[in-house]
Amino acid sequence: MIAVIRGTGSYIPPRVVENEELKNYIETSDTWIRERTGIERRHVVTDDTVASMAAKAGRAALENAGIQAESLELIIVSTTSPTQMIPCNACLVQKELGAVNASCFDLNAACSGFVTAYQTACAYIESGLYQKILVIGSEALSCITDWSDRGTCILFGDGAGAVVLAAEKGKKQESVCGADGSMGDALTLYSGYLSNPFGTPVQEEAVADGRKNAFVRMDGQAIFRFAVRKVPQIIEELLQKNNLQKEEIKYYILHQANTRIVEAVAKRTGQPIGKFPMNVQEYGNTSSASVPILLDELCRGGKVRTGDRLVIAGFGGGLTWAASVVTWR
Ligand code: ACO
Repeated sequence: MIAVIRGTGSYIPPRVVENEELKNYIETSDTWIRERTGIERRHVVTDDTVASMAAKAGRAALENAGIQAESLELIIVSTTSPTQMIPCNACLVQKELGAVNASCFDLNAACSGFVTAYQTACAYIESGLYQKILVIGSEALSCITDWSDRGTCILFGDGAGAVVLAAEKGKKQESVCGADGSMGDALTLYSGYLSNPFGTPVQEEAVADGRKNAFVRMDGQAIFRFAVRKVPQIIEELLQKNNLQKEEIKYYILHQANTRIVEAVAKRTGQPIGKFPMNVQEYGNTSSASVPILLDELCRGGKVRTGDRLVIAGFGGGLTWAASVVTWR
């Protein structure tokens, strides 16, 4: 058996922050942000949490799939900005949706998290262990952003996207997934809780930094270079593994970090930019929520039809990357 996407859903918090409003916090301009990132606005949580957004996106995906919450056997929530650690966000979603028969866990692979969670769910289904799985990417990045750091706070936004996967007969498709921990310092977020009363000398500095700086810190140019080099490579590798030509892919649905990264990947891949849909203008970078939000928009907009082949690709902190071919049923 293989996993097929039976439904998609998303939730975007209603509070909009235009580029102009950021001038209240930092020295910046709408022009600078648009030119460097393509971002025009982002949506941020006011009374939502990672779990509440995940549950709303998950419910929408279940409705779209026509599947009852009770029939789910597993819920995976990908998040890098969990409002709480225990219970995990997947358990909170289970409670909210009444998915009483589902196992639950959260997964963190930064901006690659949703595609990694999708691949994990596919492996469970291909192994025969589960038949119906809800996979969600949900992020409240505005809560882990330093609003005085103009190099990062302009980039991020909040939201959630989800897919329901079900087992069907079909031909297995290969995926690509990897990491380079040696480059991890390019994007960091300390939890701030890493201490005990017995002394942890090696970590002391990191803990002190973490407490002070429990926010995303980033070497923007290192991340940019990594993304434009790595993403075309993994697309190439993915297509080779599946004996597919670039032209056979209808859309390349990339993590929405910024328009310049997506444009550079399109150029290096040699495919028209129209095959690389973008919504970063509206939502900013929503980390592991960006791929499923975009996927849901394309599906609900009637842009994806039965038989279409898509590539989904995530890349980011870790450093991590993950890409899969999705054949629409
Ligand atoms: N407004 C105005 N000026 C700014 C701002 C801002 N918000 N931020 C930085 N600047 C200034 C800097 O201080 C600097 O000024 P200086 O020349 O006087 O020192 C100048 O603009 C250039 O700064 P850089 O950091 O060199 O700008 P760069 O061209 O690299 O653009 C950006 C920064 C947009 C972050 C870019 O590096 C980028 O897109 N990186 C990708 C990172 C990314 O997308 N990360 C997301 C998380 S990881 C992921 O999702 C994959």
